[in-house]
Amino acid sequence: MDQIHEQIHIPVLKDKVVEFLDIKKGGYYLDGTIGFGGHTLAMLEAAKGDIFILGTDRDQDALKIAKKAIESKGYSHMVFLYHSNYSRVFDLIKGLGWDALDGALLDLGISSYQVDIPERGFSFHRDGPLDMRMDQTQKISAYELINSLSYEELKSIIREYGEDPFASRIAMKIVETRKKRTIKTTRELASVVLEAYPARFRRSARRHPATRTFQALRVAVNRELDELNSFLSGILDFFKPGGRLVIISFHSLEDRIVKHFFKREQRGCVCPPDQILCTCNHKPRLKILTKKPVVPDKWEIKQNKRSRSAKLRAAEIL
Ligand SMILES: C[S@@+](CC[C@H](N)C(=O)[O-])C[C@H]1O[C@@H](n2cnc3c(N)ncnc32)[C@H](O)[C@@H]1O
Repeated sequence: MDQIHEQIHIPVLKDKVVEFLDIKKGGYYLDGTIGFGGHTLAMLEAAKGDIFILGTDRDQDALKIAKKAIESKGYSHMVFLYHSNYSRVFDLIKGLGWDALDGALLDLGISSYQVDIPERGFSFHRDGPLDMRMDQTQKISAYELINSLSYEELKSIIREYGEDPFASRIAMKIVETRKKRTIKTTRELASVVLEAYPARFRRSARRHPATRTFQALRVAVNRELDELNSFLSGILDFFKPGGRLVIISFHSLEDRIVKHFFKREQRGCVCPPDQILCTCNHKPRLKILTKKPVVPDKWEIKQNKRSRSAKLRAAEIL
């Protein structure tokens, strides 16, 4: 396992996470994206070790590192670790016999560990296989998507999940290239995207033109938005009144989903505005605690560049 990553791991917005979760001794918490266990340890320390945490991650490497970190602090008996997607936590919570949660955290996206290991295929800065699976046991990788999806499917993934204005040209170039050869590595794909970009945009781009396509593929391979939507559709049933839900997102697609979910669940009636009589019977289920998303200050960004796009939203369950 990667020693360096274990040592330099810095959880994003750590103090804000602990503050918004309002950690209560003896409480029951979920860390749905436990990663290296950074936030989990901060939560345990805030409660002097006196809370129970259900920790899930779809990445087996991350879970091994989290387990070691938790053991080294003597908290193993308080943490229940599962290799699972966070969208499937409902059965795990029931299986543990927990009545309800005092708090839940999602720190979305990929870890710097996943990005920095070329074999995981998330980045084109170092060449690696086109993989991008967070869960190494999953069958479909980026290689399958790139080499088998139709032009239309590729275009809509790159447009919807990457918000790239040149989605159509990129999809076309991918399809043309793979008629001659399969696209196997991250650098090969990055150069196909670069070729698809009109020359003047290539030169003026602030980021590498492949950045958006890589984000799009990663979201598609890991079904990231479906995961978030399924989680949100069920999790409110698992909280105690006064429980806290904290979500950190790293791209606008996820943040939009969280923002709209919070707004909708804070409202009473959600019938169309022109409907006079309410038929939905929707009741407010939460109170938003962060009018605007909380973002890291410049010191945190200086220390941890990855934190720069983080947005934290928190709510209290009614
Ligand atoms: C940003 S890292 C979390 C870091 C963690 N909070 C810490 O302090 O160490 C995101 C983690 O979420 C995991 N992940 C992403 N989507 C997931 C999902 N749908 N289900 C379970 N884990 C997921 C990734 O594998 C990664 O380890």
